[in-house]
Amino acid sequence: MTTHPEISQQLEDVYTLPVYRNVRLPLTLARGAGSYVYDERDNAYLDLYGGHAVCSIGHSHPRWVEAMKEQVERLTFYSNAVYCPVRAEAAETLVTHSYPSMEAVYFCGSGAEANETALKIARKGTRRSLVVAMNGGFHGRTLGALSVTGFPKMRERFPENLDVWTRFFDLGDDSLFGIPDPERVAAVILEPIQSVAGVFLAEPDYYRQLREFCSRHGIVLIFDEVQTGTGRTGHWYAGHHWGVEPDIVTTAKGVGGGVPAGVVIANQAVAETVEPGDQATTFGGNPIAAAAIRATYGVIEEYGLLDQVRARSADLVSRLSALEGVREVRGLGYLLGVECEASAPNLQKRLFDERILVGECSHPHTIRLLPPLTVTSDEWEQFLDVFEKLVADPANA
Ligand SMILES: Cc1ncc(COP(=O)(O)O)c(C=O)c1O
Repeated sequence: MTTHPEISQQLEDVYTLPVYRNVRLPLTLARGAGSYVYDERDNAYLDLYGGHAVCSIGHSHPRWVEAMKEQVERLTFYSNAVYCPVRAEAAETLVTHSYPSMEAVYFCGSGAEANETALKIARKGTRRSLVVAMNGGFHGRTLGALSVTGFPKMRERFPENLDVWTRFFDLGDDSLFGIPDPERVAAVILEPIQSVAGVFLAEPDYYRQLREFCSRHGIVLIFDEVQTGTGRTGHWYAGHHWGVEPDIVTTAKGVGGGVPAGVVIANQAVAETVEPGDQATTFGGNPIAAAAIRATYGVIEEYGLLDQVRARSADLVSRLSALEGVREVRGLGYLLGVECEASAPNLQKRLFDERILVGECSHPHTIRLLPPLTVTSDEWEQFLDVFEKLVADPANA
């Protein structure tokens, strides 16, 4: 049964809680392939947003689809009550492709859940309560993750969140290293590149000093790499750019290539503090998610996507930076914020009219590019041709 697009939009509005009302694009998707998604009339949209950085290897990559089909036929679900070979392989893949000091994985279902878990583990392991987080950092909408999310507007709607235990600093502000009571701090949690805030990074030396500060005071350093993981920045994880390893890394979004999955990876010192019963979730590491993770990593390796992302991103950044109407291009790899003279919502809408999807963020003049790592040079040319004209047009201010 195919429902008419307008009816299906109304149905969804009627039968779902209104949390996404007014934020959806007026688009009803029917399918996706590679870097494109297609509406119900089969119009193609170039997807440079990946449904919030999720579609890391494009839509329905044939190798990934094959792996999914095979797993669905073999075993669709069993919980952590049993062992499961595909889960074991996904865990090994994740650990061996993360930071060298990482030792063990916990599987869950989303980015917020991964961060909740990391915060629980850090607090229990250190027997400390305070957490340092960053203004402009986004870590998810569940109560614990919200408590360390550096957007007061989001927290204030839920005053019973746990932010009495959080101290907020600006990313890059080294006054953090002079706080009087570091022995009360369980963890520092940060997005190494703040995405929702507008794609902001600190200087490389800041991350190194932060690592040193945490080690000196027994504080667990948590990198929230929900967006920057799975090769998005041109390395498996962002800390590789600065030679800095956290104690815990969390990831989600692109890790399953579109299938919901969240992951916490811990180094040995942290892993040793975790005991049976500290955390659990029914769907964590389920066979479908595990097969999706394995296939996603397989595609990234087989097609040399990390090298490709680094090379194409360098070219793209220099071309975007030279455009009239572009103020600044921030970010690494395929997590880019393009700050423009024009208003970001206007640009996003004009690009949408040209059937190109990009993201906005909390910075009013910055659009975000979070495309599949598989985007081709020709597809970038398609974007640049359109974008060059729109970004220079004063009508979009
Ligand atoms: C950096 C970061 N952390 C955590 C989350 C929360 O992830 P999820 O929506 O899967 O709970 C997000 C989602 O946008 C994110 O960007």
